[in-house]
Amino acid sequence: MRNKDPLTPYGNIPMVTPIVSAVNYEYVSFEILRKITEGEIDGYTYHRDDNPTVRAVEKKVAAMEGGADCVICTSGMAAITMTFLTYLKTGDNLLTFHDIYGANYKVSLILEKFGIDVTWLNAAEPEKVPENIKKNTKMIFCETPSNPLVKVIDIEFLRKQADKVGAMLVVDNTFATPYHQLPLEWDADLVIHSATKGLGGHNDLMAGAIVCSTQEQYDELWFTRQAIGTTLDPFPASLLERGLKTLDMRAAKMAHNAQAIANFLKGHRKIPRIYYPGLPDSPGHKAACKQMKNGFGGMLAFDVGNTQKDAKKFVEKLNIIFHAVSLGCTETLVCLPVLTTMLYLPEERRTTFGVKANTVRLSAGIEETQKLIDDLKQALE
Ligand SMILES: Cc1ncc(COP(=O)(O)O)c(C=O)c1O
Repeated sequence: MRNKDPLTPYGNIPMVTPIVSAVNYEYVSFEILRKITEGEIDGYTYHRDDNPTVRAVEKKVAAMEGGADCVICTSGMAAITMTFLTYLKTGDNLLTFHDIYGANYKVSLILEKFGIDVTWLNAAEPEKVPENIKKNTKMIFCETPSNPLVKVIDIEFLRKQADKVGAMLVVDNTFATPYHQLPLEWDADLVIHSATKGLGGHNDLMAGAIVCSTQEQYDELWFTRQAIGTTLDPFPASLLERGLKTLDMRAAKMAHNAQAIANFLKGHRKIPRIYYPGLPDSPGHKAACKQMKNGFGGMLAFDVGNTQKDAKKFVEKLNIIFHAVSLGCTETLVCLPVLTTMLYLPEERRTTFGVKANTVRLSAGIEETQKLIDDLKQALE
């Protein structure tokens, strides 16, 4: 007995995209098979190619970022690696910044194995970009705000630099989310997300997204995903779709909490240094005012006391704030980047661009603001 579609026998439409767990589909006709394989229609044949639950989320993320389309995959790192694999080849140069998520360093070692040369700059020194652009620079890849020091890079400036040699500009928008920043409006070519973070928002799924500014890019990235098999499963895709529904609300509360925390920590006798683009004297404030909206995001970084022992003591005294990696989710989290997200870097690289042994990264959640301030206050006593 063949399965008829159980959801639409009378034409009613489910409020939530169904989770289609099939990895294989029966062809209704050779004509439909032709239309699917020639890209005339969004049809489904095999999960590695496409899945309807995933496809529904792709369209939603593309709309949120103002893109032509989006390719969703198994993690943020898969999204970044797929982008490099699709657009870089032997002899090309990739210009990027020390201020990006630590695992990218590991990916750069793989790129180097394939003869791709990688230039690393400090995101706080954008004036060094022009002199480091090479004839063979094919891509500029940045995070803004960056991980972990929340440095802000002017996307429009990078666009101009990339245009000098016809390079692509790829922006990891994980920290900002589309609620605060739309890199495509500043003419970035692609926008990357670790959807594990703000887009999903609940610490319960892992996914990545590449938002494309053109249909051609979608086809190119889809080709890579289909070839290497980084297609997301429908279950996390469904959780992601659910997360997207509350993104604006969550991002607004996180930014509110982060700004309140930054205001509280600034000038505290045990906090010698703080990075938050919403503080008017922060180096990234001007660029953030230009390209961010609805506040400055939920991420901040600060040094505690003078030594790592001071920072560890502070973290251990927190009651409602969790000591964990990841970010952009409902709970407020703190971690010491040198012991966690930057472990992937060789020792000498961990502190070259401003991170210290006592630097703490904080991802604001959606808890009541005063409860967070009270927790920080008692942990600093
Ligand atoms: C800014 C940023 N981009 C990418 C990633 C990688 O994402 P994932 O862990 O989903 O692979 C992370 C992870 O923390 C991140 O912070």
